[in-house]
Amino acid sequence: MKVVTVVGARPQFIKFGPVFRALRKVAVEILVHTGQHYDANMSDIFFRDLDLPEPDYHLGVGSGSHGAQTGEMLKGIEVVLLKEKPDYVFVYGDTNSTLAGALAAAKLHIPIGHVEAGLRSFNRKMPEEVNRVVTDHLSNLLFCPTEAAIQNLEREGIQEGVYRVGDVMFDSVLYFGERAKERSEILNELKLGPKAYALATIHRAENTDDSERFQSIFEALDTIAEKELPVVIPLHPRSRKQMNALGLSFPNLRVLEPVSYLDMLRLEQEARVILTDSGGVQKEAYFFQVPCITLRDETEWVETVETGWNVLAGANTQNILQRFKDVKKGARFPDYGTGDAAQKIAQVFVQQSSMVPTVR
Ligand code: UD1
Ligand code: UDP
Repeated sequence: MKVVTVVGARPQFIKFGPVFRALRKVAVEILVHTGQHYDANMSDIFFRDLDLPEPDYHLGVGSGSHGAQTGEMLKGIEVVLLKEKPDYVFVYGDTNSTLAGALAAAKLHIPIGHVEAGLRSFNRKMPEEVNRVVTDHLSNLLFCPTEAAIQNLEREGIQEGVYRVGDVMFDSVLYFGERAKERSEILNELKLGPKAYALATIHRAENTDDSERFQSIFEALDTIAEKELPVVIPLHPRSRKQMNALGLSFPNLRVLEPVSYLDMLRLEQEARVILTDSGGVQKEAYFFQVPCITLRDETEWVETVETGWNVLAGANTQNILQRFKDVKKGARFPDYGTGDAAQKIAQVFVQQSSMVPTVR
């Protein structure tokens, strides 16, 4: 069996990490990097830190509007698929690279495996929600991290080819968590003590492109840093650009460039609280049993909220500050599998890939 895997953005490099190790034992894999993320600290650093294989194709698409970026990817991926003639295409998560990979494959009648299928925010204004819904409806093997994901798919009439395998990001944390403790120097470099700082990340379109939400979130973080404890914020380039464009600066915050995966895990491990609008970081907070405040109005990772590890604070300054005051650990534990999601994906692939019909 030959698989073409399409990745392009930071969280996809991380999700791909455990899966390629398992998949390459059972299939030939060709890796396509769309180039959606291209700064060294958004891309190369993950290939090094996570021991990822070099991409076989780098499309160099870069940034652009949704249509332009997705269209360029679609064109480039189609060329690769026509040349490589794979039996399957694998895509990850919910970015424009995911959508382009799935669309290119579907048009050529190549079956699709979707890693992290079935997640929903039920907010179609999020570009990620559109990407997920379309990708799931085009996919033949849907690898779900949670029970909620299975139910979401069921509600949309997708039952065939659906497998609950657990969360590949949990696999990754189990694999790299100890390595982060051994190798990362970030806490020493930043002179941060255990449980003596908050960690924050902001990058969602809904928070960065809306200047009111953006400012109000940063005001809350700045107040926490001034009155409560240091706040460390590795800043996504999208948010850095918005901060510069609005002429904002927050003297109390410790704003960093995006950090490596091992440094990020280390920062998460010892944070007292995490404030974020990232999907992956919400879960990682729970994996390290750090309370999380999500700076959004909804989440796909509903079980982190149901078990009390995560609260939704939106973007309102006062609301975020109140949530910060009330923050506590969860009462129960969400089920993200047992750290063998990637192995299960490879097993299901071997058993099912020849049996699932190529067109839904
Ligand atoms: C994308 C995904 C989002 C995911 C996030 C992970 C889509 C629609 N969104 O959002 O789901 O959570 O990646 O980080 O696919 N930029 C740089 N250097 C880079 C990459 C981006 O400067 O290496 C800047 C550019 O100004 C670009 C902006 O960030 O226009 C946004 O990048 P883009 O990839 O379009 O979306 P993300 O916000 O990164
Ligand atoms: N991450 C990282 N360095 C950073 C910020 C995030 O390595 O400076 C990692 C984080 O640990 C998680 C993943 O990137 O594994 C989350 O990606 P991101 O927040 O960009 O996207 P999302 O998960 O929201 O799609």
